[in-house]
Formats: sequence, structure tokens, C-alpha cells
Amino acid sequence: MLSEQLKKVLLKEKCPFTDILGQEMVKKDVKSALLTNRHIIIVGAPGIGKTTLAKNIAKLIPGKKFIRVQGSPDLTVEDLLGDIDPIKAMKHGPLSLDAFTKGKIFKADKGILFFDELNRCPEKLQNALLQVLEEGKATIGSYDVDFDIDLIFIGTMNPEDSSTEKLSDVLLDRFDLIYMHYPENIDIEKEIVLKKGKKVDEVKINDKLLTLIVYFIRLLREDKNLEKKPSVRASIGLYERAQANCLVKGKREVSFNDVKEAVVSVLSHRIRLKPSIKYLQAAEDYVKEKFEKEVTREKWEEKGGCL
Ligand SMILES: Nc1ncnc2c1ncn2[C@@H]1O[C@H](COP(=O)(O)OP(=O)(O)OP(=O)(O)O)[C@@H](O)[C@H]1O
Ligand SMILES: [Mg+2]
Repeated sequence: MLSEQLKKVLLKEKCPFTDILGQEMVKKDVKSALLTNRHIIIVGAPGIGKTTLAKNIAKLIPGKKFIRVQGSPDLTVEDLLGDIDPIKAMKHGPLSLDAFTKGKIFKADKGILFFDELNRCPEKLQNALLQVLEEGKATIGSYDVDFDIDLIFIGTMNPEDSSTEKLSDVLLDRFDLIYMHYPENIDIEKEIVLKKGKKVDEVKINDKLLTLIVYFIRLLREDKNLEKKPSVRASIGLYERAQANCLVKGKREVSFNDVKEAVVSVLSHRIRLKPSIKYLQAAEDYVKEKFEKEVTREKWEEKGGCL
């Protein structure tokens, strides 16, 4: 059984989730949920490593299938479960399993079904999923298809996404929820940026500027005027673009200005101002002013480049 195989790996490895830095509580919860063969939903804001974590789980059972479903309002029950193909039905008979084209759930049998943004799919689909998870049974049109399915279900959802459907209580009751957060401190986030961001070989970036980049992103996350906060992708983006700005100018070492010049392009669409501010100021101006106010060159140098 798939879960037995995973159980062995989880018990053998002390820290199986090496792609995720920090998040010790999350790792512990995932381990414990998987050990007891429970379905999980990883909950958190965009860009905090949900997909990375799910892929890391898949890596632990090499050779196993990792089927990904992207939750969206137009995802259909047929996409998920499968459908009766009328041509095949005429050939093999309408009740024959040969007439059935398998959907994602069947493809994930003996593997992992990774359901990204579960709360973006319609209620009808949630109900179909419920039946599969609970009873190992699917109803497609007027057919009842029974099957034994052995899969690990990992969903993700972003509770703050306003374009989403609320997951029904009955569906939620079938899962354990695991909450992921932004990196717990600046050092871990710097490490993530260095590990996951692209390093431009031709230019150097010193540790103090990297600190400045991550410091500014973390400052924005604490800003009460923002309803959408910049993710780890924003830290990675600012790191990459600062190096690129340096390269464009033909220089060898990233400067304060290279970072400053990347701020608007990397950040203004990654934040959303609260309505009370939004009508007074554009996000571009807000980010620019915030950077100028909070991390002026003088302040930066005054503190010896160590914010
Ligand atoms: N704790 C972490 N450890 C390692 N990498 C991280 C961590 N947090 C974020 N990242 C990195 O941030 C980037 C975004 O991560 P990922 O795509 O997994 O986020 P997500 O939560 O699935 O986002 P979305 O909700 O937008 O799909 C990746 O490069 C990932 O490696
Ligand atoms: Mg993701």
C-alpha cells in the first residue's frame, strides 16, 4: 500500500522535507498526518511554499505518480472523475468499463493527488470529491462506478482569496488542515532567497544588500495599510532584478540604487492597498515612497548597512 511505503520513509528520515526551510511545526504536522494516512489541506497565503512542500512529499516516494489538479471555477466533475465516451459506449456497451475515460482521480491511483487551490472549484465538484474520499465510489451521470482507490490527497487553499468558494463543512470535516506562514525570520528568508533565487554569475551582491531586500519585504508584510502582502516570490524577485539592473549597467557589484530601481516593478502589483488608502494613492507611488522613507541611503549607511 502506498501509505505503508510513505510511512517507512517518514519514520526513517528525521527531516524528510528538505526543500522547505524553516516551518518546523508545519513539517511535524505533515509528517504526523501522513503517518496516519490522513488527507490534508495546506492553508496559507500565495508564495509561501505550499506547492514546494507537496512536491517534496511526492519526492519521498519515487516512481509514484504525482497528479496535479488546478482548482478553478470551470473545473468539471468529468475532469476529475472521468466520463463515458459515447463512441466507446456504442462499441463496448454502455455499462462496460471500457467505455469509461478516466479522469484525474483515477490517474492518481497509487500516487498523490495534489489539488491546488481546492477552494476555487464549484460546490458540485466538492460533492463529487466527498463521495470519492469517503466511499471510494463515484457517480457519473446515471452510472455508479465503484472502485478501490489508493491515493494520498494533498490540497492547498488560500483563505484570503476573495474569488473563492467556501469549502463546505462536510468536506472540510474529511481533512486535517495545516497552516503555513511566511518565513519565521529574516535569516531563514535570506537563505530561501539564496537557495531558490537565480544568481547572476557576472555580478556580486553583498550580504548587507540582501538583508536590505528581505528587510523591506518583511516591513511591507507588517504594514497595516496593505491587504495583500508580498510573498517570498517578491523577495526572490527583488534579489534577481537588483542583480539584473547591475548587469544592465555593466557593473560588477550590486549597489543600493540597483535595488531601489527594481522596487516598483517587482512590488507594486504584489501588494494591494486597503480601500481607505487605495483611492488616495496608487500602489506604485506607495511602494516607492515607503522605500524612500524607510530605507533611505542615509539610514542604510548610518547603520553601517545593517538594518
Ligand atoms: N519555507 C520555504 N522554504 C523553501 N522555499 C520556500 C519557502 N517559502 C517559499 N519558498 C519559495 O518561494 C517560491 C514560491 O513557493 P510555492 O510555489 O511553493 O508557493 P505556493 O504557496 O504554492 O504559492 P501559490 O499559492 O501562489 O501557489 C518557491 O521558489 C519556493 O521555493
Ligand atoms: Mg502553489
